[in-house]
Amino acid sequence: MEFRQFFEPGSSTFTYLLGCPQTRQAVLIDPVECDVETYMRELDARGLKLVYTLETHVHADHVTAADALRQRLGSKSVVHRDAGAMCGDLLVTDGVHVVVGSLDIEVRYTPGHTSGCVSYRVGDRIFTGDALLIGGCGRTDFQQGDPGTLYDSIHRQIFSLPDDTLIYPGHDYSGNTVSTVGAEKAHNKRLGGGRSREDFVRLMSELKLAYPKQIDVALPANQACGRVAPPQQGA
Ligand SMILES: [Fe+2]
Repeated sequence: MEFRQFFEPGSSTFTYLLGCPQTRQAVLIDPVECDVETYMRELDARGLKLVYTLETHVHADHVTAADALRQRLGSKSVVHRDAGAMCGDLLVTDGVHVVVGSLDIEVRYTPGHTSGCVSYRVGDRIFTGDALLIGGCGRTDFQQGDPGTLYDSIHRQIFSLPDDTLIYPGHDYSGNTVSTVGAEKAHNKRLGGGRSREDFVRLMSELKLAYPKQIDVALPANQACGRVAPPQQGA
């Protein structure tokens, strides 16, 4: 499989390029609008055609490149049907497989950070968005977040995979790039060591986190797949 992990430092976001070596078709998971040129250069250099952009959820901290890539390369946007982004071309649910050449991308519904979060499993890798981070997890105090739901999602849909499954998260703030299910089950600061659901819910509800800086700009833009409304004439 063709594979590359990109990092956007402004929002500490990871974007992933996955490509089929035979058909040269590719997808991008969680592309960021300000890096469109980087993605286009990389696709070009590898001789790949972008077929889909896959969102793990509607992001509150950056604007998606889904619409810009749709306009420029003709890719289709994939998002969970409950994400609140009806601009998506393909609205998916748990258990759907998105097949692109030899890539078989399994959609696993992992709500709790938001009500429309999914993780994407491809072979021995899972792209967890903001559900499970390396050593942590997404916040649960905005966008219909719920700590009990997040705990159940992580245990049922991610920790149930083999221990050597690779975890590729949506963000990292400490320089990590990849982990494994086994390492997170053992060492994750919020969920590791067999932490109980009750303890996790208490821990998450006691976090005193700052209001997300970009949420008022990013949420409405991402509900439109990153399409920014043109300025009003004469207003
Ligand atoms: Fe998020």
